[in-house]
Amino acid sequence: MTLLSRKPKVAKPATKKVAKVNKPAEGKILSQREVMKDPLQKMAKDHLWMHFARQSGMESGKGVPIITKGDGHHIWDSSGKKYIDGLSGLFVVNAGHGRKRLAQAAAKQAEELAFFPLWSYAHPSAIELADRLADYAPGDLNRVFYSTGGGEAVETAWKLAKQYWKTQGMPMKTKAIARNIAYHGTPQGALAITGLPGIKAAFEPLVPGAFHVPNTNIYRAKEQGYHGVETEEAFGLWAADEIERMIQMEGPETVAAVFLEPVQNAGGCFPPQAGYFKRVREICDQYDVLLVSDEVICAFGRIGEMFACNAYDYVPDMITCAKAMTSGYSPIGATIISDRIYEPFKHGTTAFYHGYTFGGHPGRQTFGSCATKSSQNYSHDSPIRALRRSPS
Ligand SMILES: Cc1ncc(COP(=O)(O)O)c(C=O)c1O
Repeated sequence: MTLLSRKPKVAKPATKKVAKVNKPAEGKILSQREVMKDPLQKMAKDHLWMHFARQSGMESGKGVPIITKGDGHHIWDSSGKKYIDGLSGLFVVNAGHGRKRLAQAAAKQAEELAFFPLWSYAHPSAIELADRLADYAPGDLNRVFYSTGGGEAVETAWKLAKQYWKTQGMPMKTKAIARNIAYHGTPQGALAITGLPGIKAAFEPLVPGAFHVPNTNIYRAKEQGYHGVETEEAFGLWAADEIERMIQMEGPETVAAVFLEPVQNAGGCFPPQAGYFKRVREICDQYDVLLVSDEVICAFGRIGEMFACNAYDYVPDMITCAKAMTSGYSPIGATIISDRIYEPFKHGTTAFYHGYTFGGHPGRQTFGSCATKSSQNYSHDSPIRALRRSPS
């Protein structure tokens, strides 16, 4: 086919007539049989590919739970059943469903400017949210690079770490260290950093250069190789020192960054032991390795602070965040970067050739500004914060 030749014309299929959805009457719950009559079930079976799920359940005709409505911390499915959205979607909807202020802010923004990229341009909402995030972030983390989700934020952090070390005359510093069972996303770099072999195997070979060390799951201390004094603090220091051992084993001149969640979510919920992050920070400083705090789940009030590193008293070199920044009203991700890492990019022709078309969506930033405001309100004096600070 020459460049100018056209695709053969294909007759357009007739517009499908969608049968009326069988909605439950107020206060009524439909039976499974009635639910399965919903045409959406057939459409889902025929066309929808769910994430991290076996399609076989839907293929076998059992249907899929279809969530139709949310209000505050409640959601409803298509049968009319009401649930507590205990996981906030996927650690996302921190400000709750159905917040009119968030919806209105997006509508207003869409009327003003539907979209513009941050590729050599800027727009007010991206600038204002960056300013707000820099304000919340600790230390000299003052620079915000947007993406569309958490995995992309992690991917960005790893790429930036590699380039940063190149600007410092250390081109061999490319490797990443993370913890066993930790989840950091699905792009091939972020997936390499992820410590769950079961979700990686099908996609090998991934980006080379990611290594894994024990996590802070004290319940599995022995299985992880710890046979020392049975105190939380001693275990935590051992787990931190495992990072040092890995850096030494790989060679400090080859390690770019360590990626850690403040509270590791995958595999359970593993908070850090007292002293863990202090020791990790010392190790990173000693070996010139960047510390990335992956706060895709932990930020924006989830553990009572806007950023969880503030709760555990450490200042990372980068924060990756997403999810609750918009409380789910729109996708977003961000990598927040220290002045030190940003410094070489301030000069001459040095540029970070990386980005995402939708990474700077104006609507998202509007959402972000509102949702972070809401999270700030909710995180202030939150019971979680009080719990975390209590000694027992
Ligand atoms: C710690 C952490 N990092 C990264 C990600 C990936 O985020 P996303 O699904 O937005 O790509 C997740 C997702 O749950 C996560 O929990």
